[in-house]
Amino acid sequence: MPPVILDGKALAERIRGELAGEVAEFRDRTGIIPGLSVVLVGEDPASRVYVRNKENAVKAAGMNGDVVRLPAETTQEELLATVDRLNADPAVHGILVQLPLPRHLDSRSVIERVDPLKDVDGFHTMNVGLLAQGHPRFVPCTPLGIVELLKDSDVDTRGAHVVVLGRSQVVGKPVALLLLQKGVGADATVTVCHTGTKDPARFAREADILIVAMGQPELVKADWIKPHAVVIDVGIHRKADGKLCGDVDFAEAAQVAAKITPVPGGVGPMTVAMLLRNTLHAAELAAERRG
Ligand code: GUN
Repeated sequence: MPPVILDGKALAERIRGELAGEVAEFRDRTGIIPGLSVVLVGEDPASRVYVRNKENAVKAAGMNGDVVRLPAETTQEELLATVDRLNADPAVHGILVQLPLPRHLDSRSVIERVDPLKDVDGFHTMNVGLLAQGHPRFVPCTPLGIVELLKDSDVDTRGAHVVVLGRSQVVGKPVALLLLQKGVGADATVTVCHTGTKDPARFAREADILIVAMGQPELVKADWIKPHAVVIDVGIHRKADGKLCGDVDFAEAAQVAAKITPVPGGVGPMTVAMLLRNTLHAAELAAERRG
């Protein structure tokens, strides 16, 4: 039987439509228009595309979106001053500093400078700590999108063995933390593999749900996958022939998996939808503080 394709594009569109309604209701109730500021340093072509997508999505949801574009030579002090200005601006509810930053900049200190109540990326130590303790406030967008996609596809995570390939701060670690929480859409048993893992394929083959975020094109083949497993592919790469692919060899995996995300059109669009949700959440927190 061919696998069920987990259509992140369609789900993201539905969520974005629902969020536009919630934004309108929030605006009518509070007079506040949620605002997201994205900071983009330099000219990385992939980052420019991602940032344009985010800006368009924010505006389509009825929120204010602006992009602060800084030259590649921006100094650490200048970038921190930009973050300070956005922290102090009451019309800005969410701040996202697009990563990766140019090499001469220290992303850790920039992330820590973002007001944790405006940290819609969920990368600040305070938000990572809250998630680790089981009291999430802002959760990184890609992990949130993965969990939402699993829920919508009726994948039962309770008691499932989830194997995560990759331990990044952006995907691997937070998705592991999210899925091992107590409660609906979580309660999984989680194994995290990384570059130090001996024979990751051995662990992958034990997975009921395999989440792949290793950043290596088409590394995961059919023999990494347990028959009828659910496969979530977070990778996106451009091949020599110009086509896009993920970290999973889709044609092979589709022979074995019960459910699988495509690339493109799987996890990627969900990330943008979750950014909108986090931005509305940030505006709600600001409204509560205002009283
Ligand atoms: N670069 C790639 N993914 C992300 C993300 O989720 N947030 C930020 N800030 N930068 C990224």
